[in-house]
Amino acid sequence: MTIEQSNLPYDSNALEPHLSEETLSFHYGRHHKGYVDNLNRLIEGTSFADRPLERIIATARTRAEIDVLNNALQVWNHAFLWESMTPNGDAKPHGRMKDMVETHYGDLDSFKDEFRRSALGLFGSGWVWLVVDRGELRIITTGNADSPIGTRLVPLLVLDVWEHAYYLDYQSDRKRYVDAFLDNLINWNFAAENLERTPDAKAA
Ligand code: FE2
Repeated sequence: MTIEQSNLPYDSNALEPHLSEETLSFHYGRHHKGYVDNLNRLIEGTSFADRPLERIIATARTRAEIDVLNNALQVWNHAFLWESMTPNGDAKPHGRMKDMVETHYGDLDSFKDEFRRSALGLFGSGWVWLVVDRGELRIITTGNADSPIGTRLVPLLVLDVWEHAYYLDYQSDRKRYVDAFLDNLINWNFAAENLERTPDAKAA
């Protein structure tokens, strides 16, 4: 089985002016595709070759399999990233998602403050996640390719804070990139759909 790259759910210029077509085409067409190609090369002829992506992630555990695991996680994380952004967002959560944000953070601005703090506090490359942890919302960061997939945490949204995600548009100004995501790009509907799949998420 060949691991396929997920489709970009919008045109590569759809997130302008917040993320340029150049950034998105490089990110999707070079970086994400590169992880997919690496993974397929690494698993060819091995016992991983007939497993779906989630099984590869769940079973690649030994030191010798670390490249398989890291590339598989990056394939998964990027597919989740594309869905976490939208050109059609109204920048606000609704319904149960809104209630949970207000219960856990007080209001949307306080949520954004904590997300921004987490993103700016992450040293080096990694990811910032909004997750559900035993019914409670949490913002967490993971370094490099690490991901909450396969843990008890249920991811709702993610932002890629590797420099390749923003350098062409924002150079080293991670804060402006994070603010563009928080104010203009978040796909709250995707977060809400993921929330609906977590039956233990406490309603407000
Ligand atoms: Fe990336």
